Amino acid sequence: MGGICDDHLLSLLRGSVPAISCSAPGKVILCGEHAVVYGKPAIAVPVLEVATKCNIFARPSAPSDEITIVAPNIGLNCKLGCLVESHPIRATLRLVLEHLQIDHLPVCEIRIHSTLPTAAGMGSSASVSVAMIRAVSTFLGHPLDNVEVNSIAFEIEKIHHGSPSGIDNTVITYAKPLFYVRSTPYEFLQVQKPMTLVVANTGIRSSTVQVVGEVKQRASSEPQKYDHLFSKIAEISLTVRKCIETGALDEVGKKLSENHILLQEIGVSCPKLDELVSCALTHGALGAKLSGSGQGGNMIALVDAEQAQNVANELKTAGAVNAVITQVPAEGKK
Ligand code: PMV
Repeated sequence: MGGICDDHLLSLLRGSVPAISCSAPGKVILCGEHAVVYGKPAIAVPVLEVATKCNIFARPSAPSDEITIVAPNIGLNCKLGCLVESHPIRATLRLVLEHLQIDHLPVCEIRIHSTLPTAAGMGSSASVSVAMIRAVSTFLGHPLDNVEVNSIAFEIEKIHHGSPSGIDNTVITYAKPLFYVRSTPYEFLQVQKPMTLVVANTGIRSSTVQVVGEVKQRASSEPQKYDHLFSKIAEISLTVRKCIETGALDEVGKKLSENHILLQEIGVSCPKLDELVSCALTHGALGAKLSGSGQGGNMIALVDAEQAQNVANELKTAGAVNAVITQVPAEGKK
C-alpha cells in the first residue's frame, strides 16, 4: 500500500476531510462460553442497543506528530506517546499502520466513547478495537474490510485476554448471529424466528483473563470432569443452533438454562448471577443463564417479546444495575 494517497493527505492537512466516525456493537454469548476456549462450538449474537463510537478529527494546526486520545470511559485524555507500547489503543494504531504499510498517523485527535459496560461480558474491548480499526483505516484513506478488521481485532484481544477464542471480535465485527468453533471458518446463523433477550448486569466487574485462567487450572487438575462438562455444553450449542434455525424457541430457552447449570458446575457463576437467573425464570423467561466469562458481569434471559419489559423491570428490582432489551431479528428482516 505504501502510504496515504496525495489527495487524501492534502484534504487531511487542510482539515477538509470531515471528522471520521465509525462504530461497533456489543455482544452476548448465547451458549458455549468457556467450552469454546477448548475447541467446542459456541453461539454469540450482536447487541446493537449498545455501541462504541470512534471519532477522529484532523488537527493540522497542532504540533507535528501530536496524536491525542480522549476515552472518558477508561479515564484517558492524553497524548499517544504517554501510553506504554503495549497499551491496546497504542497497539491498535501500530497494527493498522503496519497492515497498511503506512509509517505514521497524521496529527489528529481520536475520541472513543462506548455505552458498553466494561468487564461485564458484553465485549467492550473487542468493540473498542473494531470501532477504532475502522476509524483509523478510514482516516488514512484505506478503510479495511471485515476480514482485515477482524484479524487485527483478534490480535488486540490477545493483549487483553491472553488466549481468547476469537468469538468476541468475530461477532462484533460482523454484527450477525454467529456459530463459532475456534480455528475453523465461522458460520452465520439462519435465525428462523426473532428472539428477544433481556441482558441484565450484576454490576460485579469480572476479569475474563482471570476467570479463564482459573477454569484452565481446574480443567488441568480434573481433566475428565471438565472434558465431560465441555462436551455437554457442546451438545447444547449444537441443539441450540438447530432450534434457532427451526424457530423452536421454547427449546432454545430450556437449553440456555441447562447451560447455566453446567457453568455453575464449571465454577464460573456467583450468587448474584444465580439470583438474577432464578428471577428471570420465575417471571416467565423461556430460559436464562450467565453470559461471558461469569463470576459477575451480565446474565441473559430469552423471553417472549411482550414479556421483555416486565422481566427487565423484575431483574432491576432484584438488584440488576441495568437491563437492556435486545432483539435478534429473523434472517433478512433487519
Ligand atoms: O469476554 P467475555 O466475558 O465475554 O468472555 C469471553 C468468553 C470466554 O469463552 C469465557 C472466553 C473466550 O475467549 O471465548
